[in-house]
Amino acid sequence: MPKLTIEGVGEFDVDHEIRLVVAIEDNNGDINHACGGNARCTTCRVKFINGEPDGYSQAEYEKLVQTNSLGEYRLSCQCLVEGDMTVRVLDRFSISGRPDPGPRPEDNITPEPKWITP
Ligand code: FES
Repeated sequence: MPKLTIEGVGEFDVDHEIRLVVAIEDNNGDINHACGGNARCTTCRVKFINGEPDGYSQAEYEKLVQTNSLGEYRLSCQCLVEGDMTVRVLDRFSISGRPDPGPRPEDNITPEPKWITP
């Protein structure tokens, strides 16, 4: 079982290949996901301290290029937990002023991912 460490929150054993945004949310990770996990809003962004995946969904890659954010952060709605990871949540619901964090993302990555390794 991979170990997910959420900076400032704790360490958690999570299911292999669980969607990262769901793993964070379900472990009190205090994260926004305004578009419901569809690579459109970037509010689910995280900084990887360890364990960053090599591959990107095409949707994530295009959004990061579009927002000039490639190398700055990753979209947790577009990442699977395939091994031990340490992340910093960059847009925390509790201090965002948003009325809610957004619709709960589906368990599977949406849109259907086409994986690329740039
Ligand atoms: S980009 Fe909107 S929840 Fe990930």
